[in-house]
Parts: sequence; C-alpha cells; structure tokens
Amino acid sequence: MNSIFVDKFYEENNRKPKVNITTFGCQMNEHDSEIIMGLLSERGYEATEDRKNSDVAIINTCSIRENADKRFFGTLGQLKKLKENNPEFLVCVCGCMMQQQHIIDELKNKYRWVDVIVGTHNLHNLPKLIDNIKSEKKKQIEILPEAVEMIEDLPSKRLYAEKALVNIMYGCNNFCTYCIVPYTRGRERSRSPEAILAEIKKLVADGVREVMLLGQNVNSYKGELEDGSPCPFPKLIRLIDQVPGLERIRFMTSHPKDMSDELILAFKECHKLCKYVHLPVQAGSNEVLKRMNRKYTRESYLTLVEKLREAVPEITISTDIIVGFPGETEEDFQETLDLVRKVRYDSAFTFLYSIRKDTPAEKFTDQIPEDVKHERFNRLVELINEISGEKNKQYVGNVEEVLIESISKNNKKAVAGRTDGFKLVNLEGDESLIGKIVKVEITEGKTFSLEGKLI
Ligand code: 5AD
Ligand code: SF4
Repeated sequence: MNSIFVDKFYEENNRKPKVNITTFGCQMNEHDSEIIMGLLSERGYEATEDRKNSDVAIINTCSIRENADKRFFGTLGQLKKLKENNPEFLVCVCGCMMQQQHIIDELKNKYRWVDVIVGTHNLHNLPKLIDNIKSEKKKQIEILPEAVEMIEDLPSKRLYAEKALVNIMYGCNNFCTYCIVPYTRGRERSRSPEAILAEIKKLVADGVREVMLLGQNVNSYKGELEDGSPCPFPKLIRLIDQVPGLERIRFMTSHPKDMSDELILAFKECHKLCKYVHLPVQAGSNEVLKRMNRKYTRESYLTLVEKLREAVPEITISTDIIVGFPGETEEDFQETLDLVRKVRYDSAFTFLYSIRKDTPAEKFTDQIPEDVKHERFNRLVELINEISGEKNKQYVGNVEEVLIESISKNNKKAVAGRTDGFKLVNLEGDESLIGKIVKVEITEGKTFSLEGKLI
C-alpha cells in the first residue's frame, strides 16, 4: 500500500486524487494515455478534464513535428503557474519527446520544477515514479534508451466504450529520412498473436465492437504462434476475424512498400475487416520519394491502389502527404498534385515539412523557404478538399451501416459515427444509439463528413 491514494491528505479529505492527462500526437499516444489512466485508476485515481483542479497533471508528448514541441512547451508554461500556486501539485511528462536528449537537457535546465520525466519504453512505471516522489521527495527521471521487455496485460481506461485501440507492434525500422519515430519508439517488436487475441476477446466481453490494430507499419508485423510457426499480418487478421462478437477490424498504419497480395486478399475475404485503408504516400515525385527513403515509386504506389480497387471496388483510401521536403521543386510538387488527382483520395492529412533534430533530412542543404511551403500546402489542400467533397456527394442516397460513437460535436440533438469506410456521419438521434451499428440513409455529402437519417 504505497500509492498516493493512501496518502493522509486524501484519506482525511475522503476523496480520490484527480489526474489530468493532456495527449498530443497519434493514436499510439492516445492508447498510451488510456493505459496510464488504466494504471492510475487501479491505484485509486480519478480522471478530470479540469486541469486547474487536478492533483497530478500528465503531458503525453509527441515529437513528430515542431508544432507538437511548441504546444508541449506552451502547456508546460500553463502548468508552471499552477505549480507556483500549489507546490503539492505534481507535473509529469512522458512520451516521444522524452526520448530526445536535447529535450531532457532543456527540461533539466529550464524546467527544474517538473516532477516526473519518463520515456516511451517504460511508461508503465509512471505510477511507481509518482509514488517515489512522495516518499523520496525528489524529482524522478527514468528514460531507457531502448525497450527491454514487452509488458502484457496492462489495464486501459478506454476513451470509447464500443471501440478500442490495440497495439500489435511497437517501433519502426524504416528510417524515412524526415522522421523521428524510429529514434523515439525504437526498433520493431511484434506482440504475440495469442496475447493480441486474448486482449481482443476480453475487450469484446467488455462490449467492444470495433478494434483498431495499431503499429507504425502493421504490414511488417512478424508474430510467432505458440507452436513456433510464423504469423504475418494477413494471418493475424484472419485469426481476429474469427473472434465471436467482434464486428469490425481496422488497422493503422500501412507502409505501401510492404502491402502484400495476401493482405489485399484478406480485404476481400475477411468479413469483419473494414474496407478502408490509410496508405501514406508522402510525395508524388520519385526523386523526392527516393530522398525520403520510402522504397517505392509513384508507379508502384499507383499500381497498388489499382490492385486494391480491383479487389474491393468500394474500398476508401486516405493518405499522408508532406509538402516542402528539402529539394522539392515546383515540378516535384506538380507530380504530387497529379498523383492526388489520379488516386482521388477519400481524405488526406497534409503536413508542412518540419526539420527534426538528428534525422538525416536535417542535414539536407536545400531546405524550402516557409512561404513556398505554405503556398504549395494551400494549393494541395484545396485540391484534396475538392475531391473529398465530390466523393462524399456520391454517397447521397446510399444506405450505410454506421457505428454510433458519440453525441455530435456541434449539435447536441445529433449523434456521430463511422461507416465501414471510415466516413464520419452525423444524424439526428440521442445517447441511446451510442455503441449501436445502425442503418443510415445518406442525405448530404460535405467536404469532411456525411449527413444522414436513421432508417
Ligand atoms: N515533417 C512533416 N511531417 C512529418 N511526418 C512525419 N515526420 C514529419 C516531418 N518531419 C508526417 C508523415 C507521417 C505522419 C504521421 O506525419 O506524413 O505519415
Ligand atoms: Fe516514420 Fe517512416 Fe517509420 Fe512511418 S514508416 S514511422 S514515417 S520512419
């Protein structure tokens, strides 16, 4: 019994300590935060959205672009004021930024009041470090240079009741020249298929209907079954497809260089696998793709898209695109626009190239001026939105199965959910629909979402 919950203060006040978690970045981080909250709930903490009235604030950081760094330091600035008013208030920082030495140096020099610093490989130790600070009365820093063990059976406090994030692997071996992830998340490690299946069965028993399998590059998942036989990603999907009670399987992210014919076949044959794929292209010019170390060409990418659509005509496709990578000429950029016109993505995430310390592209000499990057970015976004809008309009009159996730953001009398193809749909309805898969007639196609009515 050494948790903060049994601290005299909370006992005397007869209340649970409150923790506020701020999460930056991708779904992996989101899931890490769910695990942190799961671990802390087991120790008697309760979550709060109200940072000002919390006892412990945790920032789960992202280092993918400079913007994420800036937002982290902005949030820390706000926490400093709370700490000044209440020295008992604990500030903990974790996640990808903590795997970068220059960030740790900055925290040690300029932010000495931060109480706990923990990296990505030992996140599960965060509650113990919070306990330690109470007993040892000194700052706790625990960063491992690489993962040492795969911890299973960690609890998770899910954001949604009906859908869950499930890690199938950690890390990345690809070393795209712009990307910090292989340095902050380490080399690829695959969880065992049995452990993944056991987790999914447990989730289904808890009411989950949809799982999102997570990995930086799920196509290179290399599981091994208990009998020692290999279990590549398509086989894992087929095993998960058999889990009774589960209705939908999604995954994120696929590297185009590793998308196999077996996986394309799984889209055709696995009933529960949603007909949606996120297939980051990053750029449409072979010259740029080569310097990004992406290991495919625009031609092979376009062939892959063709194969996917041939196998599953209704499949929806989204992507990530970086604008203004070092050396990108107007001609290179035109090739990106051309590829977008050819593929006609359902949606796309667009990013301004951001220099990441200690990545190969940091050293590339021909960095693109900010104004040129922005101008290209605007042209790209305009094209993408035009295509998304056109594609969404084609859904009008269709009947789609929608898993209702929440009350709509902008209308309290409406609910929001996702189609099999991951399209966001808003429709009139109340809380009772949340968690259900309902049939919806699409009445309007907008740029980023669909409107519909229950049938
Ligand atoms: N600058 C801009 N975008 C980046 N991404 C990764 N690293 C960078 C960077 N340095 C984008 C890629 C990736 C997505 C998650 O973030 O498009 O697919
Ligand atoms: Fe980064 Fe490339 Fe790995 Fe994706 S595949 S995480 S972009 S290095």
